[in-house]
Amino acid sequence: MQLTPFPVTPVKQSRLSQVDFDDLGFGTIFSDHMFSMRYEAGAWTNPQILPYQALALEPGVAMLHYGQTVFDGYKAFRGLDGVARIFRPDMNAQRLHQSCQRLCIPIMDAGELCDIMIQATRQLIELDHAWLPSQWGHSLYVRPLVIGTESTLEVRAADSYCFIIMTSPVGSYFNNLQKGVSLYVEDRFTRAASIGGLGTAKTAANYAASLLPGFKSRQQGFDQVLWLDGNEHRYVEEVGAMNIFFKIDGKVVTPPLGGSILPGVVRNSVIALLKDWGLLLEERPIAIDEVVEALHSGSLEEMFGAGTAAVICPVASIGFKGELFEVANTPPGELTLRLYDELTGIQYGKLEDRHGWNVQVPIP
Ligand SMILES: Cc1ncc(COP(=O)(O)O)c(C=O)c1O
Repeated sequence: MQLTPFPVTPVKQSRLSQVDFDDLGFGTIFSDHMFSMRYEAGAWTNPQILPYQALALEPGVAMLHYGQTVFDGYKAFRGLDGVARIFRPDMNAQRLHQSCQRLCIPIMDAGELCDIMIQATRQLIELDHAWLPSQWGHSLYVRPLVIGTESTLEVRAADSYCFIIMTSPVGSYFNNLQKGVSLYVEDRFTRAASIGGLGTAKTAANYAASLLPGFKSRQQGFDQVLWLDGNEHRYVEEVGAMNIFFKIDGKVVTPPLGGSILPGVVRNSVIALLKDWGLLLEERPIAIDEVVEALHSGSLEEMFGAGTAAVICPVASIGFKGELFEVANTPPGELTLRLYDELTGIQYGKLEDRHGWNVQVPIP
């Protein structure tokens, strides 16, 4: 349902002229405006669009201490035809809704949240359309965030919240379709508990748990961590910012959504495309030993990550227990490249959007 537009307070002076679109990086530049909505006295109120600005929070706000915060991330693309396309924001709204429920945040119903997110994103794109990069591979990253704002040191859910949507023009996260990334298989630290934890929620705690292992893996020269399950450190889970796929002996394999990994929107899209193409896909637990065996025997044909920031990203090598294994046929494997081309083709309006994934926003 399309809502009536939210009220807008425009910026007095745009910051656009300070942006170097040839050097965007990822997530360090924020567009002129943001969406804001508050939860107070038991109701979500005051949806509006404001200049991007600092939030006023007291140091005693429980969220800063206990982490009652959730977020999500999706992208809008400037199409070759000049139309902006938001990729599958409905799925991100659903996931944000589930994350809120897991973190005990009193969110509105999922349909209403989806309508609000899409309307707010449309308006932000219309207002800040000049911030939408035009270079292939670049996009406007959209980051919704919900935080508890009540000042209390009691450990319980807050009674007030702030819901922000900000946008950020971004380049590619890894910029490595040709080179691929190297992954460090983490067999000591755990990202998320296997059962009953926070793994499926997009919440700060999971990312906090990943900081030290991420830092150590970079010290050893790796790009990202490949997580194993929290119980035995035996089964592959996902990568820091993407879900993981293997092509072994002609079959594509990816770990199942068992409650400990993030249900990725790009993962879901990859699975849909593989089905369209009649390719075999198994969603099943995959032990790291099976991956190592496949690397040894040469049956591991391709390995790639899938995520909003990373798009489709070939894995060139993995480090496990002191050994470095090169993945054959990278970068990028035939299937990896086909998926990258199809996905980006749909996102930039070059290929037909058969699944109706894009929400189109005409821009001046
Ligand atoms: C831990 C983790 N796994 C997977 C993904 C991929 O999810 P999506 O495809 O929805 O971006 C992300 C990215 O947000 C992530 O942070």
